[in-house]
Amino acid sequence: MKILMVCLGNICRSPLAEGIMKAKIEENNLDWEVDSAGTGSWHVGNLPDIRSIKVGKTHGIDITDQQARQFTKSDFEKFDLIFAMDASNYQNIVRMSNNEDQKNKVHLIMNMVNPGMNQTVPDPYYGDDGFENVYQMLDLACGKVIEKYG
Ligand code: 4NP
Repeated sequence: MKILMVCLGNICRSPLAEGIMKAKIEENNLDWEVDSAGTGSWHVGNLPDIRSIKVGKTHGIDITDQQARQFTKSDFEKFDLIFAMDASNYQNIVRMSNNEDQKNKVHLIMNMVNPGMNQTVPDPYYGDDGFENVYQMLDLACGKVIEKYG
């Protein structure tokens, strides 16, 4: 299984999703690949946001090996599952797809926890107290990904 986590900047939410998913893959001895990307280009080349690094560290997850990159059309070919953090990310990715097969790879990540509810992982960039909540939501969702596909 090859999984891509996508948010807007690829510095707050999707780097955490990548780190959490990698930790669970390792715990479960799965031969999966995970990466993350942003629909926007502002932070390309940057480390994750310090607040995401900190909340990851609190939970024993190191995300300092990551560098932000922008989502590209070639990601539809490289990955089996593409998880968007919110509806805006979802729409931006789907808009770039070329066919139904590519479109069907894209899912809102919180629908793994509450199917069909189209719940958002809130953007924590503006404000300081959203990061633990984001971590907890993504931890639940990544656990469900393992349950479903592992
Ligand atoms: P992310 O958070 O999409 O979770 O990485 C954001 C990071 C940067 C910006 C917005 C959201 N920004 O506007 O620069």
